[in-house]
Amino acid sequence: MSDLNQATLTAGDKSVALPVLKPTLGNDCADISKLTKETGLFTYDSGFTATASCKSAITYIDGDKGVLLYRGYPIEQLAEKSSFIEVAYLLLNGERPGADQLKAFEAELSKEATVDDSINALIGSFGKDAHPMAILAASIAQLSAKYHNSLDLNDAAQRYQAAVRLIAKLPTLAALIYRHGKGLNLNAPDTSLDYVSRFLKQTFESADGKYDLNPNIVKALDVLLILHADHEQNASTSTVRGVGSTGANPYASVAAGVTALWGPAHGGANEAVLKMLEEIGTADKVEDAVAKAKDKNSHFRLMGFGHRVYKNFDPRAKIISVMTQKVLAELGVNDPLLEVAVKLEQAALQDDYFVARKLYPNVDFYSGIIYKALQIPTELFTVMFALGRTPGWVSHWLEQQTDPEMKIVRPRQIYTGSPVRDY
Ligand code: CMC
Repeated sequence: MSDLNQATLTAGDKSVALPVLKPTLGNDCADISKLTKETGLFTYDSGFTATASCKSAITYIDGDKGVLLYRGYPIEQLAEKSSFIEVAYLLLNGERPGADQLKAFEAELSKEATVDDSINALIGSFGKDAHPMAILAASIAQLSAKYHNSLDLNDAAQRYQAAVRLIAKLPTLAALIYRHGKGLNLNAPDTSLDYVSRFLKQTFESADGKYDLNPNIVKALDVLLILHADHEQNASTSTVRGVGSTGANPYASVAAGVTALWGPAHGGANEAVLKMLEEIGTADKVEDAVAKAKDKNSHFRLMGFGHRVYKNFDPRAKIISVMTQKVLAELGVNDPLLEVAVKLEQAALQDDYFVARKLYPNVDFYSGIIYKALQIPTELFTVMFALGRTPGWVSHWLEQQTDPEMKIVRPRQIYTGSPVRDY
């Protein structure tokens, strides 16, 4: 924060005073909302690299220092001491739950975990080779159809219930999508289990309903979900808010968030990283891959490297990198791709191209290796990201609904087409 309370912009013979808004943490923001009225000028910021789209009290990132806070709590402390469900409650409500509140929240999630037959029929209608993210987006859109007529967005309790319902149903949808791809029966979640165990059992249980829960796997997955739970105004969350700003229902807004997450520049990177590591194959090919990533003609990027906001280590990547070694050791998995990943990380971190551009490993760099060790297929990785991100999406949607400054998202453009001409 600075002492600056006002910035002045001079446009020709006009001088405009722009109020400077002060966040609790982070960069001050010049408020340009009156600029057009006073000067006729729009501003241009492709990709919103320097533009705040809203005020939010949920998550804070300091990209230069590699800091990530959910509701003020450092991600490292939450990963060590909390659970995904506690984090989801924290994101939704702003405060950590007491023991009774946590119990009640878990009970609500269990109660809402099942889906009806229309979802099974929808998932069953897709080809076995359909990408899981396409099925996930369609399934959530189906929920929007089911709940649309009965949902009153002016009722705070109904809004909250929709948010909880989405968090509750995501693991069920993910499990069903996995089972459909494998040609397994579309089963129901075991609502006597905790959130993560419920997902694992429904996903992997055998025909006679048996699955041995391994506490190491449950814990590893729980931490991975915590690390993905929110990341302020990223592309998918901004999409959820963009759709939410039109008054669309939360299911429709989150379905849009899922499609935004799918792209390889965003959540789809975790799938792309594993494919890249498999293509590199062995540690001796790492140097070639780094050279290719630097060659602008190759259109190849090191997936899992770089971030719009982090110009330092992604704190989530630091946690995952340590966790990967631990989880693989606990599960007795010896994955040669880990050696390729470690060598690639070392090579890139010492390379001038990556150093100069401040490109560090991001959350997706190691997550795929853990998912693979947990037997989750590569094409389901981004669905796992969506499962983790849902509390963030719905928290932002809830926050937006009561924001007195909320307006429909409607950016301007710089028109570069033909001037008016006759037909
Ligand atoms: N490999 C090689 N070069 C890169 C990479 C990379 N992964 N990322 C950025 N660059 C270069 C880029 O070519 C550009 O170079 P130059 O200045 O010479 O033109 C410079 O670094 C800046 O890149 P940018 O594309 O302008 O940066 P951005 O902030 O628009 O993009 C990014 C951020 C994450 C899309 C990008 O770094 C990227 O494509 N990374 C790989 C995909 C990936 O891992 N995505 C997951 C992001 S973390 C999870 C999430 O939040 O979704």
